[in-house]
Amino acid sequence: MLMFALSFAALACTVAARPSLSYLENHFTAEDESEEVRSAAIKRLLEVFGMEDPPAIHGHKQAPQYMLDLYNTVADVDGVTKDPYLLEGNTVRSFFDKLRSEQVEFRFNLSTVASTEKILTAELHLFKLRPQASVTFNRHHFCQVSVYQLLDKSNSTQGRKLLSSRLIPVHSTGWEVFTITQAVRSWMGDESSNLGLHIVVQTLGGSQVDMKLIRFASGRSHHQSKQPMLVLFTDDGRRSATLENADSNDTPVTPSLPHAPMTGPPSRSARSLDYSEEEGLSTSCKRQPLYVDFEEIGWSGWIVSPRGYNAYHCKGSCQFPLGQNMRPTNHATVQSIINALKLMKGIDTPCCVPDKLFSINLLYFDDEENVVLKQYNDMVAGSCGCH
Ligand SMILES: *[C@@H]1O[C@H](CO)[C@@H](O)[C@H](O)[C@H]1NC(C)=O
Ligand SMILES: *[C@@H]1O[C@H](CO)[C@@H](O)[C@H](O)[C@H]1NC(C)=O
Repeated sequence: MLMFALSFAALACTVAARPSLSYLENHFTAEDESEEVRSAAIKRLLEVFGMEDPPAIHGHKQAPQYMLDLYNTVADVDGVTKDPYLLEGNTVRSFFDKLRSEQVEFRFNLSTVASTEKILTAELHLFKLRPQASVTFNRHHFCQVSVYQLLDKSNSTQGRKLLSSRLIPVHSTGWEVFTITQAVRSWMGDESSNLGLHIVVQTLGGSQVDMKLIRFASGRSHHQSKQPMLVLFTDDGRRSATLENADSNDTPVTPSLPHAPMTGPPSRSARSLDYSEEEGLSTSCKRQPLYVDFEEIGWSGWIVSPRGYNAYHCKGSCQFPLGQNMRPTNHATVQSIINALKLMKGIDTPCCVPDKLFSINLLYFDDEENVVLKQYNDMVAGSCGCH
């Protein structure tokens, strides 16, 4: 079904005005669709999503709330990007602490980050717990919380580098975010230098504070939703030219067509319309739904959101006269005139193709079961035109 849909979309222009459509349709029917073709198609589709193999996920995993919230901020229900300028790069990765120490020490394994990925910002997210009851009566209202990068195995003061420091109210509770971009950049350059992070809490006067006063949740003894987390904003360099060249007026309107999924077989009436189209009573170029269902492809195990998306496709004829609603280029207008006047042999009508493309977002588990948010350009036909 998917194979058929994708191939058909690609061939739509070449076959639209020709009687050979039925041959091509037969060519891609289920019986002919061998397992080989199917796996080749799925492999190619994975490449579009920048992967070699589908990540293997064991059991049901919960995505961090921060990543779910981020996804809902940048994407609509269909995964289409709401505002292409909201994220600086095109990838956000989350990592859980691997050390699970009793001390306030953390280490994150960044082996899934490609060496070509540009690190834009790295944040350490720590969940601050309420002070323990025994120490709530205390003369301190604020404490200085500092994040250090460990430079050697001993925890001497020379063996660490200050990354970030600020005052935090003793009685507050919730997420605290520290920027640690430089440390992550150095770890990306030399993996063996990643010895982890260390947190130091001091009074305003600079003396050590009992860690019962300011406590952060650890991956070891607190709920999963409060686990220490590293969030990495990166760019994999795949951002295409279309977005950068986009007209400033072209801020994506969320596709306005109905969201009816097109997974079922076409109804009888739709089918008969198709036949009349073949006979020349064609409808003019316009955008039609094309639902890509990740469950149908077998990817629902590792993709958190969306379940699928409407890629749309462009279908219909570009016969003379081309109205403005067909968004013709001048070239297409002239070609349609030459075609209509039959001035020359072998000049087809122009092609009905996407003339504006939107990006989609995927929230998924990678090979190490870290949750990743990635933006993919040119995935949704925003409008169609005769070109
Ligand atoms: C990080 O994870 C990779 C893949 O699981 C593993 O091969 C590597 O040894 C890990 N590195 C550290 C420092 O634990
Ligand atoms: C660092 O020093 C503290 C005491 O100052 C100790 O409790 C802790 O175990 C040490 N950590 C390491 C990694 O040596």
